[in-house]
Amino acid sequence: MADCMQEWPEAVVRVQALAESGLSVIPRCYVKPPCDRPVVVAPVPAAVQAQLEKEQPSDIISIPVVDLGELLLAEDGGAVGVGGGLGDDVTEAVAAACREWGFFQVVNHGVRPELMRAAREAWRGFFRRPLAEKQSYANSPRTYEGYGSRLGVQKGAVLDWGDYFFLHLAPEAAKSTAKFWPANPSNCKEVSEEYGREVVRLCELLMRVLSVSLGLDEAHFQRAFGGAECGATLRANYYPRCPQPDLTLGLSAHSDPGALTVLLADEHVRGLQVRRGDGEWVTVQPVRDAFIVNVGDQVQILSNSVYKSVEHRVVVNAEEERISLALFYNPKGDVPIAPAPELVTAGNLPALYPPMTFDEYRLYVRNKGARGKAQIEALKGQASPEN
Ligand code: OGA
Ligand code: NI
Repeated sequence: MADCMQEWPEAVVRVQALAESGLSVIPRCYVKPPCDRPVVVAPVPAAVQAQLEKEQPSDIISIPVVDLGELLLAEDGGAVGVGGGLGDDVTEAVAAACREWGFFQVVNHGVRPELMRAAREAWRGFFRRPLAEKQSYANSPRTYEGYGSRLGVQKGAVLDWGDYFFLHLAPEAAKSTAKFWPANPSNCKEVSEEYGREVVRLCELLMRVLSVSLGLDEAHFQRAFGGAECGATLRANYYPRCPQPDLTLGLSAHSDPGALTVLLADEHVRGLQVRRGDGEWVTVQPVRDAFIVNVGDQVQILSNSVYKSVEHRVVVNAEEERISLALFYNPKGDVPIAPAPELVTAGNLPALYPPMTFDEYRLYVRNKGARGKAQIEALKGQASPEN
């Protein structure tokens, strides 16, 4: 398999370059089949944004907002851990959000708003560099590190209307080396690494909250995912303007393969949609200075499907480009992940997933691209009875 993944199956076209060429009809390879096309929400001029936020059309939703302020204060004071009294409200709010949505926003999360803005602006700066400069970071399907414009190596696949930059931040041994990092803006590496460290700390805290919310000891998730050796990757997404946004998607429907995703969304332009339990796609309205958090497939596996990863996708629009930073917190690559025995109990039998390492799991996505929840659904039921 490794051999067929050395190169992309077709010449890579940068969506940004296409968009900037001023075309009015998008190439056929970006046109989704009718069932996958979005119902486009008209872009909102800044002047009416505030009013709209008050009125909130029904398809624009503020997913649950969890305030971590008290929990962090308690942590700093060293007095009360996640499992203590002060953490109960937070734990319950996270548990409810995970059961109902699989998605929530966090505020007072401990990451400085200036650092969030600096990271986003650094990546905006990168995507504004000349095409030839960006091309020098062109990625390959072997590691995905660098400047990319597709996910998956299936020849003839329908492509998404977006470019990205992908990097490994942790663990130490897997970190992307200096050559993969943009030289411009000159602070890009430094700011992104600091941002990554802070967001990873937030992920570690959320791992403890998730463990406690499922009745496990607070270190359970982190331990199962490889302890201090957990992985973190960064994907800076760039969605250019699109002349026919009703025919395509910035990112096809998918669930995130890892443990937890912390998304810093564009502060002005909406685009992320989440598939609700009733099958409807709803557009997320980010709260100011918040992160959007969602659980990934590995949490679904470890929790034996008590918490489910949720499908999401990105719609684009004709008026404005959009940028987002996704930090993926992943298990260490070579640790087999399977449902926690404590959660395979009378009310939740049998164990639904066979043990699999994240390195194995990720290959599916890297070959096939975003395919909704097809991968995790296919795994279901393959667990042998003794699991
Ligand atoms: C992702 C993702 C959403 C967005 O990168 O996996 O879901 O809003 N991004 O860019
Ligand atoms: Ni995602």
